[in-house]
Amino acid sequence: MRNRTETSDLTQADFDFVRTLVKQHSSISLDDSKGYLVSSRLLPIARGRGFESVAALITHLRSRPHGKVHTDVLEAVATTETSFFRDFHPYEALRDQVIPDLIRKRRESTRMLSIWSGACSSGQEPYSVAMVLRQVIPDIDTWTIQLLASDFSGAMVERARKGVFKQLEVNRGLPAHLLVRYFDQHGASWWLKDEVKRMVTFFQQNLDREWTRIPQVDLVFLRNVLIYFDVETRRRILRKVRRHLRPDGFLVMGAAETTLSLDDSFRRVQFGRAAFYQPGEGSGQ
Ligand SMILES: C[S@@+](CC[C@H](N)C(=O)[O-])C[C@H]1O[C@@H](n2cnc3c(N)ncnc32)[C@H](O)[C@@H]1O
Repeated sequence: MRNRTETSDLTQADFDFVRTLVKQHSSISLDDSKGYLVSSRLLPIARGRGFESVAALITHLRSRPHGKVHTDVLEAVATTETSFFRDFHPYEALRDQVIPDLIRKRRESTRMLSIWSGACSSGQEPYSVAMVLRQVIPDIDTWTIQLLASDFSGAMVERARKGVFKQLEVNRGLPAHLLVRYFDQHGASWWLKDEVKRMVTFFQQNLDREWTRIPQVDLVFLRNVLIYFDVETRRRILRKVRRHLRPDGFLVMGAAETTLSLDDSFRRVQFGRAAFYQPGEGSGQ
């Protein structure tokens, strides 16, 4: 019988190897307290591939050029926790103020809205935005809606694109009337209807690489992702956000996040209980 992998399998050298791999490929910074997290997330990969321990898996990673197993490790280490209408208040602000304002401004000109969710995980965030748009814009079919969603994890992008969610996932944050309106039940899972699913274009994008597919947008969602990066990486990404946001557009961050002390050129705008961030004068240069 194989030995069970123990947390103690992870030596400092093994942890440092994974830490460097993760930093290089996903820009996530792992401090010394994350040994247990790494070990517990790598354990299913080690078991699934028949390694006798996490240490043996890491030895394998060290001895091979970058390949599928490295990608699996990188994706396993990233935290992908998400939910529909996470924290609720930003979505309330979108529904009651931000989208109606943007619609009013764009109605006589481009009749176009561009929105990007830059760390979309399994898709609940962009799909929540899509549902808000359908609720708020009565003549949505006469508008050009560009709703982009990306994540560095190919596995997450693939999952998100399917638009299929477990009961537990729809129980978290999704109001019952929207579940009934926009999902079909198939056995134990809930399938998003095409009218919402087809609104979102998913693709893989590492936030800390060149943003080749990101146009000028009205809203950028970067929620609960910058926290995983070091300060320099956060600043670098916020600088790029400024260049891609329209002057009257907004950055939407996680409930506990702020641009404060990272990038002074964003202006905080309060909408009820949600704070959004607008690029200040001179941004976009
Ligand atoms: C905690 S989830 C947040 C999901 C969603 N934005 C929310 O707030 O519910 C963080 C996501 O960031 C992604 N991520 C981590 N590093 C990334 C990077 N360098 N570029 C793009 N996405 C990244 C992870 O794969 C994960 O899906």
